[in-house]
Amino acid sequence: MNRITLRFTLNGMNIALETAPNKRMLDVLRGDLGQTGTKEGCAIGECGACTVILNGEPVASCLITAAQMQGAQVLTIEGMSETLIGRVLQDCFVEGDAVQCGFCTPGFIMSAYALLLKNPHPTREEIREAVAGNICRCTGYIPIVNAIEQAGIKLRS
Ligand code: FES
Ligand code: FES
Repeated sequence: MNRITLRFTLNGMNIALETAPNKRMLDVLRGDLGQTGTKEGCAIGECGACTVILNGEPVASCLITAAQMQGAQVLTIEGMSETLIGRVLQDCFVEGDAVQCGFCTPGFIMSAYALLLKNPHPTREEIREAVAGNICRCTGYIPIVNAIEQAGIKLRS
């Protein structure tokens, strides 16, 4: 079977591993690298549970191949948790009851992180647009939008 040496940075660390080029990014991250905070929901790019940051943009890792990760900078929920924006977002999700079963939460937080990185003053409409690719079956979305809005306010103060 065709194999490649995949080199990229994961949460700032240099990674090199042998893998099939068509292996899903989600499987490289969860299976090969133990990044189990990234969840698999639909596996067809519709739920957002598998969202990670690839070269600064949120992507559905179930739709990305290992070959597309070559030379990239990848941030997962584990790495994001070490950042100021990440810690504030996580606190606001907990304080704002934006987490119930929690399965969708890493994906929402990654999308919110990408938003706040580029736009520290998002409107509620911009927040809704940023998480439009994330599905939650529990919270009804309003607490999630509130939590992201609150995180933006805290980060600015
Ligand atoms: S598991 Fe990737 S979008 Fe649902
Ligand atoms: S908190 Fe359960 S799916 Fe969102």
